[in-house]
Amino acid sequence: MRAQLDADFERFKSELPRDIAAHVREAYRIDLTARYLGQTVPHPIGKGSGQLSLNERQLEEDAAAGLGFAVLKTLIAQDEAGVQSMAAWAIHETRMKVERRRVVGIDRGWTVTWKGRGWDRSLDDYLALLRTGRDLTRAGRLLVVPSVKYHLPRLGDPFVESEYRFTNSRLAEAWGEPPFLVEKDFSPTLAGDSLAEVRPQILRWLHEVPQLIRHTSPIDTRVALKLMNARFEDGFQHEMLLAGGTGDALVVFNRLFDQARSVAYGGQDLLERNLRVLGSFSWRGGRTGTFSHPRPGLCGTGGISSGRDVMAYAQAGCEAVQLHTMFQLPLDEYSAHEGSRTQRVLHQLLFHPDDGLIAGLQRLERDGMLHRRDGELHFLDVPHARFER
Ligand SMILES: Cc1cc2nc3c(=O)[nH]c(=O)nc-3n(C[C@H](O)[C@H](O)[C@H](O)COP(=O)(O)O)c2cc1C
Repeated sequence: MRAQLDADFERFKSELPRDIAAHVREAYRIDLTARYLGQTVPHPIGKGSGQLSLNERQLEEDAAAGLGFAVLKTLIAQDEAGVQSMAAWAIHETRMKVERRRVVGIDRGWTVTWKGRGWDRSLDDYLALLRTGRDLTRAGRLLVVPSVKYHLPRLGDPFVESEYRFTNSRLAEAWGEPPFLVEKDFSPTLAGDSLAEVRPQILRWLHEVPQLIRHTSPIDTRVALKLMNARFEDGFQHEMLLAGGTGDALVVFNRLFDQARSVAYGGQDLLERNLRVLGSFSWRGGRTGTFSHPRPGLCGTGGISSGRDVMAYAQAGCEAVQLHTMFQLPLDEYSAHEGSRTQRVLHQLLFHPDDGLIAGLQRLERDGMLHRRDGELHFLDVPHARFER
């Protein structure tokens, strides 16, 4: 098996197999099937919302590379008159800096420094991109999911429902067949927004927003909440997970915020915080001690740069992961020397003989922590074991 993995890692440096999951199943008897927002995807590696899912070319390239799924750049919701209560997020910014993050001289991994925010073009442009994504999804080539930032009120104020209703009606119309899938971006910690300073306010959003999105959508809708890293202690992250339990999926957790530099950041600190919070989380920790809504699926995000990291999120309960930074590294950071960045990332995360996902699953089997069913190892058995204990 090790010899096969070494050989695959070498030969796939120039080109990945056409159907990655089928190859892995045949060669290793490993079923990489993963899940995002209730949808089955061929393997767990997806692309997080951001600058890498802004246009048709990027989606086409990702489909060709065999990416698991892609989340589109975050759209800022609007009402019929075009008013956006979260307009401050629709700003234009082109400069991104990919750099190593250093804290008191210690290297903390790659981060992307960027001051921009959400989608800055028109709603019609976004709908055209969504239709491309819909076609790729229907063709079974790449699951594509839109991301939206809708109005978030102060504690005593009502939600601006007209923004939810108008935006959802346009998106759902472009999407067509139910279920309509959408990810809701919560990142008001960016730029130190004062909205993010009141804990009960955040918990109310998380609790109420999924129902509001479903209720203002013209067709059956599934909602993923992308949770922020709030500027509070780990226990509050747990409270956010429980409050967001009314969602169909939770993406955990968006980048950290550097107060001094006024920028969001990722890397090792983000990875460690997210894994620590997830590792100490229990669905039974709720104030009432019970959990009425079906438990949402978890999707990991933050600081992933190896298959080991993907395994760590899976062992913390995540059924899939979404990356951004790793798709932006200088080319000489990848072992593969040909192909798109997406291909190179998949090559590294899946096939690396020591740090790849296949090696990680085999290691779990060797350690007696993962067992074959019908002769195969199943990726999804890893996250599922987490909350069954
Ligand atoms: C330049 C940049 C732009 C991003 N834009 C968005 C966005 O519009 N919406 C969103 O939900 N997340 C956004 N993200 C967050 C990423 O999707 C991802 O969740 C986060 O960066 C953590 O993953 P990573 O460490 O692999 O980058 C952005 C990240 C970067 C680096």
